[in-house]
Amino acid sequence: MTDSLTEIWEQNIDRKSAKRRADIVLSQIRKYNPKAKKVLELGVGLGFVLSHFKNFEKFGLDLGKEYIKVAKRIVPDANLFVQSMHNFKIKEKFDVIFTTDECINEIRPYSNWIATFRRAHAHLNKNGLFILEMPTKLYLENHKKRIVKLEETPSGFIYDNTYVKGNRLSWDTVFFKKLKNGLYRVEKDNYDEFIYPVKKVNADLKKKFEILRTQYFNKKENVILVCKKR
Ligand SMILES: C[S@@+](CC[C@H](N)C(=O)[O-])C[C@H]1O[C@@H](n2cnc3c(N)ncnc32)[C@H](O)[C@@H]1O
Repeated sequence: MTDSLTEIWEQNIDRKSAKRRADIVLSQIRKYNPKAKKVLELGVGLGFVLSHFKNFEKFGLDLGKEYIKVAKRIVPDANLFVQSMHNFKIKEKFDVIFTTDECINEIRPYSNWIATFRRAHAHLNKNGLFILEMPTKLYLENHKKRIVKLEETPSGFIYDNTYVKGNRLSWDTVFFKKLKNGLYRVEKDNYDEFIYPVKKVNADLKKKFEILRTQYFNKKENVILVCKKR
């Protein structure tokens, strides 16, 4: 990831949907661990979700150092780290560890999902929550039928193409960044996501956690799993 791509992502980020993602996690915390004070977000990105955790001691980590640079500005009171969620080590324990919006799906191979569950477990306080939000198989199926169009965004235009092969969803994005002189600069981004059945993920989580809730939303294209440390 380059600084200029990060700048484009920041211009285009849908702040309302970041707030919706935060609200979904916050409502689970209110229900299942209302006394929680200290939270860690895995895959904090630019920080727009974590910024809604008012009155919490906030921590976040991300693999991308350019993202963390921006997140430090968006959530100045958070403690932020450049680390991978599958092998992170922070000298703190948390009441809640959460991840939203397909972050875990960028992890490969699947054994690193299990490593992530172990790291989360090791960093949680007694009765702490691990909250995992991810897309479902239906999301993958719907992407097979998706018609991609050139769309206007705050940074210019975007052509956000996707390909599905097996359980892999590949994003192949072309940005046409509008410059001050009225011309456009082309920037490209691409990454893969891997989508696994909810049943399989739940079965692996159960080895370390009690599953308190499996809740589908977005017309069943997404699911949130609320897990309590055993
Ligand atoms: C789609 S963004 C989501 C950001 C934020 N959670 C949100 O909901 O707006 C996915 C983020 O996951 C991060 N990511 C991907 N693999 C990661 C890993 N192994 N460890 C930590 N972060 C990772 C990416 O760098 C990116 O910032």
